[in-house]
Amino acid sequence: MSGATVVSAAGAAFRKAAQQLKAGNLVVFPTETVYGLGANGLDENAVAKIFAAKGRPGDNPLILHVPDLAAARALSSAWPKMADKLAAEFWPGPLTLVVPRAAHVPASVSAGLDSVAVRVPDHVAAQALLREARLPIAAPSANKSGRPSPTRVQDAVDDLGDSVALYLDGGPCRVGVESTVVSLLGPKPELLRPGGIARQDIEKIIGPLAAPSGGPARSPGMKYKHYAPTTPLVLVQPDELAGLRAAGTVIVASRESRLSGPDIFVPGSRADPAAWATRLFALLRDLDAAGHKRIVVEAIPETGLGAAVMDRLRRASQG
Ligand code: TXA
Ligand code: MG
Repeated sequence: MSGATVVSAAGAAFRKAAQQLKAGNLVVFPTETVYGLGANGLDENAVAKIFAAKGRPGDNPLILHVPDLAAARALSSAWPKMADKLAAEFWPGPLTLVVPRAAHVPASVSAGLDSVAVRVPDHVAAQALLREARLPIAAPSANKSGRPSPTRVQDAVDDLGDSVALYLDGGPCRVGVESTVVSLLGPKPELLRPGGIARQDIEKIIGPLAAPSGGPARSPGMKYKHYAPTTPLVLVQPDELAGLRAAGTVIVASRESRLSGPDIFVPGSRADPAAWATRLFALLRDLDAAGHKRIVVEAIPETGLGAAVMDRLRRASQG
């Protein structure tokens, strides 16, 4: 269907990908969380291509990806002290910081906000691309708006086809859910999106995180329909699972629920939300493509990465 160019994320591929970025084109690349749809973050025309390819609302800002702390600081007009603490602990890694935006960063990257979101990805291929390109790379997850994020290169190809100049294949993503987004704009740090770094781990470093206080405008991405498979998805308590087995229904359950059969999928133990995170989006895409009538998913405890997993599942169940 598409003439998409997919190459292994190795060797000369990084130079080719960097050339595409410098030419203002789109490149899909792996990170430790999910695949990103990248463009030169300092080129407004290239950034506009991201919104067009994803069908992303223009008021939903993008994350700029950089190779290290120094490059992140250069994108902010007033780098907060707390950002240094968090960066020292969690970068490279799945934490995104929202900070005051430097004047040379195009407003369209941030959907007109005077802030900018930055992160240093913990993935050899993402790092190699960033160092080759010598540019901040603006990159949302490489899915069509509203679909589950891609954790395999083929998922991105399925959604975006030949609107992307080059796809770098780095295999499946390790973390599987997107980065945790923390705003450092106000007097108190705010958790804008649960993700790959657990809230508790962040609070150990900087103390309590507030819930977003400024309404949806503070975290524009969170108000949109998200992660929704086409197949209806219901989220239920463990004790409801057995009663829901039926023709056309598939069940995603923890190991502790002790269900088995061709209709049962087990991402891992209730005590291992990281395993659920790694498998979640690929499983949703695969089950969706298999044409079932209904997907039933067991709710897991919201500790550690369980908060991010349950956030994505709740949104997916809101269809
Ligand atoms: O793990 C990730 O974060 C992945 C990989 C590719 O890095 N990227 C990702 O991007 O998930 P995206 O665009 O799908 O989600 C970015 C989130 C959205 O919820 C958006 O609203 C929020 O970050 N965001 C970005 N810039 C912001 C800003 N200036 N203020 C508040 N929220 C912001
Ligand atoms: Mg996304």
